[in-house]
Amino acid sequence: MSSRGVEAVRSQLRWLILHRGAGTLTRRLARNGNPIARYMFESGARDNPYPLFDEARQLGRITQTSMFFITTDHTIVSNVLRDGQSFGVQIGSSGGMPRLVRWAMRGDPELASVVDPPSLLAVDPPTHTRYRRLVTKPFTPRALQQVADRVEERAGQLLDRIAGRDSVDIVAEYAGQLPVAVIAEILGVPEDMHAQFLAWGHTAAPVLDIGLSHRQYREVTGSIKAMNLWFIEHFANLRRKPGDDILSQLVNADPDDRLNDLELRATALLLLGAGFETTVNLLGSGVAVLGPDEKARDRLAADPDLWPQAVEELLRFESPVQITGRMALQDTVVDGVAISKNQPLVCMLGAANRDPAVFPNPNVYDLDRPNSRDHVAFSAGVHYCLGANLAKMEGVTGLRLLFERFPNLEVMPHSGVRRDLQSLRGYESLTVRLSV
Ligand code: HEM
Repeated sequence: MSSRGVEAVRSQLRWLILHRGAGTLTRRLARNGNPIARYMFESGARDNPYPLFDEARQLGRITQTSMFFITTDHTIVSNVLRDGQSFGVQIGSSGGMPRLVRWAMRGDPELASVVDPPSLLAVDPPTHTRYRRLVTKPFTPRALQQVADRVEERAGQLLDRIAGRDSVDIVAEYAGQLPVAVIAEILGVPEDMHAQFLAWGHTAAPVLDIGLSHRQYREVTGSIKAMNLWFIEHFANLRRKPGDDILSQLVNADPDDRLNDLELRATALLLLGAGFETTVNLLGSGVAVLGPDEKARDRLAADPDLWPQAVEELLRFESPVQITGRMALQDTVVDGVAISKNQPLVCMLGAANRDPAVFPNPNVYDLDRPNSRDHVAFSAGVHYCLGANLAKMEGVTGLRLLFERFPNLEVMPHSGVRRDLQSLRGYESLTVRLSV
């Protein structure tokens, strides 16, 4: 069989395991009433998943299903994510699965994706440590000081474009546009590719979810392949004519520090995808939450220094990434519950951020909450979000400038359409009236 044929078989098998198999079992759990499985498969749950998360909390701090362990508990989530001894991300790294399953789960060795090795998100130390060291520098608070003016400028340009209009879809025109412009500039991806990357990113976003239909899976894979092909050509250009951006530096690094082609593509895809598919949700939810909250808006207008706190509380209140997971690397016990090596544990980040044991009155958006920044919206431990400082800067600048420019902005009732995704929480579209 040709290598293409082998990869087609592998892709089919992977879909059968990860989506058909896991999807069928999780849907069964949902039918039997498991609240987290219901959250995953009832699209109505996107509007307000929090009652389901409360229900899950009633079942215990950590619970076991036929598929995985689940926790909604803030302390357990924080501890598990920080415990690199007992928990990791690399599926099958510790053996235990049938060889065929491991082969299928490894994915196409020529195709980079954000969820498979060598993506940072999918490798454990020491490999993870090496990759992370190579990409950390542009995202430190110090390096980001230089980006701050550009974020402000970009946001201003986008706001100029919508000024004078009566009503706009603020996700399509602003919340979705700012993050892609900022991360593309940091990475050196040309401006004429922004719309194309937004389209590819949008189609590929369900890659983080389980239970995809075969059609959806093919569309996701198609977009990922298209992005791979674009980066292969882009890297060849950067080798010939390097720019002053992080991808040029990675491509032309010293041989000791150089990533191979697949590693380069995985890194570029993750930085770009994580850079805009998440922050759009922070901005969109920010408009939806703050739009109708006149008291909070008045306080923010009177004291703009409150914006960082407003964004921390937003990250807690409407976490843009709702779910992550870990595999047990060894037999372990969490809060009295035994978890065997290779068993998966689903960490519900958004639910943990509404844990009443840590955040009293969790379902209230509260600018005065003293511990908002204890949220786990950016995860914790070695995989703590590399772009957290950038995302917060975009959140603060993007929302502040929007509400300063349009102090009478009004969110149109019932206009919000949620993204139909399990892992990412945000709006597909949200109509606002700019001046009333
Ligand atoms: C509000 C916006 C954002 C949220 C809520 C968010 C959330 C997260 C979370 C939860 C993880 C870790 C997942 C896990 O532990 O399994 C993560 C990792 C990551 N994020 Fe973000 N992110 C955001 C924005 C960004 C931006 C702007 C970038 C741009 C560089 C970025 C780049 C990354 C990278 C590279 C990782 C992988 C880190 C690693 O595995 O070492 N993120 N993010």
